[in-house]
Amino acid sequence: MSEKKFNRFTITAALPYANGPVHIGHLAGVYVPADIYARYLRLKGKDVAFVCGSDEHGVAITLKARNEGKTPKQVVDQYHEQIKKSFDDFGISFDIYSRTSSKTHANTASDMFRGLYEKGVFKEEVSEQFYDEVEQQFLADRYIKGTCPTCGFEEAYGDQCENCGSTLSPSELINPKSMLSGEAPTKRETKHWYFPLDEYEGWLRKWILEGHSEWKPNVYGQCKSWIDSGLRPRPMTRDLDWGIPVPVPDAEGKVLYVWFDAPIGYISATKDWAESKGKNWEDYWKSEDTRLLHFIGKDNIVFHCIIFPSLLKADGDYILPDNVPANEFLNLEGNKISTSRNWAVWLHEYLQEFPDQQDVLRYVLTANAPETKDNDFTWKDFQTRNNSELVAILGNFVNRAVVLTHKYFDGKIPVAENLQPVDLQVVEEIKTFPDRIAASLEQFRFREALSHLMDLARVGNKYLADTEPWKLIKQDSQRVKSIMNISLQVAANLAVLCEPFLPQTATKLRTILNMKPHTWEQAGSEKLLTADSPVEKAQLLFEKIEDEAIENQVNKLMETKAANDQQNTVNVNPAKEEIAFDDFMKMDLRVGEILTAEPVPKSNKLLKFTVDTGLDKRTIVSGIAKHFTPEEMVGKKVTVLVNLAPRKIMGVESQGMLLFAENADGSLKSVMPAQDAENGAGIS
Ligand code: 2FM
Ligand code: ZN
Repeated sequence: MSEKKFNRFTITAALPYANGPVHIGHLAGVYVPADIYARYLRLKGKDVAFVCGSDEHGVAITLKARNEGKTPKQVVDQYHEQIKKSFDDFGISFDIYSRTSSKTHANTASDMFRGLYEKGVFKEEVSEQFYDEVEQQFLADRYIKGTCPTCGFEEAYGDQCENCGSTLSPSELINPKSMLSGEAPTKRETKHWYFPLDEYEGWLRKWILEGHSEWKPNVYGQCKSWIDSGLRPRPMTRDLDWGIPVPVPDAEGKVLYVWFDAPIGYISATKDWAESKGKNWEDYWKSEDTRLLHFIGKDNIVFHCIIFPSLLKADGDYILPDNVPANEFLNLEGNKISTSRNWAVWLHEYLQEFPDQQDVLRYVLTANAPETKDNDFTWKDFQTRNNSELVAILGNFVNRAVVLTHKYFDGKIPVAENLQPVDLQVVEEIKTFPDRIAASLEQFRFREALSHLMDLARVGNKYLADTEPWKLIKQDSQRVKSIMNISLQVAANLAVLCEPFLPQTATKLRTILNMKPHTWEQAGSEKLLTADSPVEKAQLLFEKIEDEAIENQVNKLMETKAANDQQNTVNVNPAKEEIAFDDFMKMDLRVGEILTAEPVPKSNKLLKFTVDTGLDKRTIVSGIAKHFTPEEMVGKKVTVLVNLAPRKIMGVESQGMLLFAENADGSLKSVMPAQDAENGAGIS
């Protein structure tokens, strides 16, 4: 831990891309630990800004939009709302959950870029980039697919092969194709603004490798290997039509690189929050007595430890992160969590399927957090941790203390008198817990901190088992009074100390014990509750999770697995029966061009086209609405069977048929004649 004295804390949690819902991997790696830490600091009475928001720019969003036939704006609006709501329902206590499409953010990111530009920080450089001649646009690496040079997988992306995991650049792909038009990309020159990261190498070495050896080994190690392998200038702009326009001359059609703008999103969010609270945002970003902490997953380390701090340093006015407690990854039932393969436990589904059990998930994800290595989430472990730890240890202790108080003392907290050694020992133990838990939290050891908390409940259980008040009540009720008082004081300490980890449980416990909120410093005392005040009737803090609920979840995953496996088997239909040459020649296949396209009313499958067949302009109806939008079809060349007998489909006469390829998973792909084939040209 740093020796410095901090008066303020800016806690950031990685901005999730608004292209899909939040899953348990995100929660375990970033949001639960960040929330525990923020809640802990607040309990200590610290001044905290805990900020997050949706990351709404970049290729992750445009690709999703393209795949779903939506605009990027529609995609981010939908997922921003969903993510925000699920965080809220789950109880992540952000001070603000913002978004990078906000006005404040566009201004903040543009100002930062312009400031660096005016200082002469960027280097302008023209280089050759892949270009799609049909779509007339530059291609991000993710928009290029081809054969992996390492493993031969034919669907590798321009930045990575998902089959063998190798990192690639598009020029390494064999037979690269644009994912937009399907054509081979060409190369064109384009200008970009580069941040000279190489010039910051010496400074980074000193700042991180010498100055922050206390960072977690996984974080420090990754930084060291980046720095040791030599840093290169990185372009901070992109040719894309979605993002924040580059705010300097000669930059038409260019936007800020998403990894330039996203971390600035933390600053923009702080500005909006500070404004709403009448605070000064600069205190949280420019004041040396503020401690900046970034909670992230391991794939974000280079951006938060190397690139963003170098940008802040170049700007000159900002504080730098004091620590970046990045986590490793959480797997699910032995396999990597994958959004595209639907291999995940989605937060919004969990909240529906396990209502009012937010703390169970928080507990399991913390107890099994991927702090030092990748870990595995299994539903069986989820059930065991709930049933044998939350129910059997924590819930059971509180329940016994409360039930016995009602049974023997009418629900009134009895007075403790004439404490015996066994009581005093518990009182002494209580005192040690706040510091013990805090020491682990301060080192970002959340699993360890949680296990200390559970030890306090174990102390309570052992105390009841050792003293056996149910055997004493007849002959020595005075003694039982002390035992129940101390047991309830243990429960009260649990109510305070569990708040960062299990906030819902803390509230329930406070209600049962009729307790007002306390600070962390007040915990550790055997006098949190006053004698004679009432205790409410017991209510179960946790309920047993039955096998059936777990089986349902496992079955759900098995179905996903089966669907994925089926998609992976290339399901080539067997050939149809042989036909004579003349049969083939009966088909009149022509090159056509789509002139207009519109949905057929009341149908979600059909599109109605006007097609120039070279012979005439005619109407053709085709069942492709789930795969293509009308807009993207207009202007496209298509293969048309022109002599198919006309048919009425949903009241519209279709005069021919458009040809498509159907993949094993049912998705349709265009079989397009070259763009320069003439309308009406015969296909044979
Ligand atoms: O990896 C991700 O999901 C990114 N959206 C994280 C961005 S963190 C920050 F820089 F905003
Ligand atoms: Zn590969």
